Amino acid sequence: MEQRMTGTLYGVSVGPGDPELLTLQAVRLLRQCPVLAAPQTASGQMLALDIARRALGSELDGKTILAAMEKVSLADELMERIRAEHEAEEEEHHHHHHDGEHDADEVFDSIGIETINKYTKEELTNAFEECLKQVDLNMEYFKDRFPYSCTKGLKYPIIDNIEWTDGFWTGMLWLAYEYTNDKKYKELADRNIESFLHRVENRIELDHHDLGFLYSLSCVSGYKLTKNEHAKKAALLAADKLMERWQEKGQFLQAWGPKDSPEHYRFIIDCMLNIPLLYWASEVTGDNHYADAATKHFTTSCKYVIRDDASAYHTFYMDPVTGGPSHGATRQGYSDDSSWARGQAWGIYGIPLNVRYTKNTEYVDLYKGMANYFLNRLPEDNICYWDLIFTDDPEQSRDSSAAAIAVCGMLEMDQWIKEEDPSKKVYQKACDNITRSLIQNYTNNDHKPGDPILYHGVYSWHSGKGVDEGNIWGDYYYMEALMRQIKQWDPYW
Ligand code: GLY
Repeated sequence: MEQRMTGTLYGVSVGPGDPELLTLQAVRLLRQCPVLAAPQTASGQMLALDIARRALGSELDGKTILAAMEKVSLADELMERIRAEHEAEEEEHHHHHHDGEHDADEVFDSIGIETINKYTKEELTNAFEECLKQVDLNMEYFKDRFPYSCTKGLKYPIIDNIEWTDGFWTGMLWLAYEYTNDKKYKELADRNIESFLHRVENRIELDHHDLGFLYSLSCVSGYKLTKNEHAKKAALLAADKLMERWQEKGQFLQAWGPKDSPEHYRFIIDCMLNIPLLYWASEVTGDNHYADAATKHFTTSCKYVIRDDASAYHTFYMDPVTGGPSHGATRQGYSDDSSWARGQAWGIYGIPLNVRYTKNTEYVDLYKGMANYFLNRLPEDNICYWDLIFTDDPEQSRDSSAAAIAVCGMLEMDQWIKEEDPSKKVYQKACDNITRSLIQNYTNNDHKPGDPILYHGVYSWHSGKGVDEGNIWGDYYYMEALMRQIKQWDPYW
């Protein structure tokens, strides 16, 4: 696997356990290093930050601090060694840093997201009701057809059911139905289900892996909520269609293109959201071959499409001859070695959905790495740029949809993070802060037919599609994120 982190790593510590005892050499190294890595535990991070602050004062502001917990925690290994050398001192130090919650607060501040109060239920329901106003207008506007993936000039073009994104609209109707119990939403969603059944029976524009995005939100949801048998049938056919993309030798589901073509022998991080359809199919049918493929694809993804520093490639090529790893490459990100914000968010949400079905919590640390990488690169208003290579560049667009997806992922993972884990509070606050910023700065409150709910998304920067526009998955995930914070919600995924 490619190693993207290059440079020299210096271990800086103080002996014995007192930040005042830094050497001049240590201060010089801290000044020179562009990136400071802190160890994994909140108390370790506190010490590291304390040291760095004393040594650098306000110079610290210009530095990237890896609040550790990224995939390969070099800082942890170093600290372990140092700890072994100063065991006694370390023990003493731990006494001063036992308040996990307090530590987590400060770590959180250190990554640039200020502490705020949780949203009230009323504020969240007001925001959801704003969404309903737009859904109502768009039901009249789209009728039995569908919005195009993104807006053009902030208005959704109307299309037939042919895109990879059409399930998001139906998913929004189901969310509206769950919230209001108003049957007008169910009636249109039911008609959409007939359209999705027709689409899969006739294999219309389905030669790609996005079957989960399409069928989990439109049909698995419809079946879970209303026992609609056509929805069940359509979703199972979609799962079979997705299984056709299984590559046995490489152990992955191929994203695009014909299966026998070597130049298409790759998978993408987005597929993390397509495999829940397979888990569901196994649950419903009792046939494990779907879930098996899902778990194998997930394992291959975690191994290769996520780099050692817990950032994600967008896509990863496997070697068609050996079935082993070849190389990462982007399609929608800024560059092959940057981290496309939505790709990072697909990982942040994909891992907990996998945990939900498999109950295998060994991936919680990988999730934390991905979430930390994402949170560490947020600009001041907490909404990521479209690629995480940008952290402060007014020329670049945000991707509000990636922010909403990441919130859903963090809320889904919350149930697997223990109360005593200081990072639990970090992610909860991140959800509050991102949600607040979306509500206050990124939503449309002047509803007109065909408008998006969420502004400032990016669909595909390189092809100039939907740059600084609305997109339908942004609208969907924003509603899901609000719903999850309003009530206990059973995912459609
Ligand atoms: N799954 C394609 C995208 O996120 O744009």
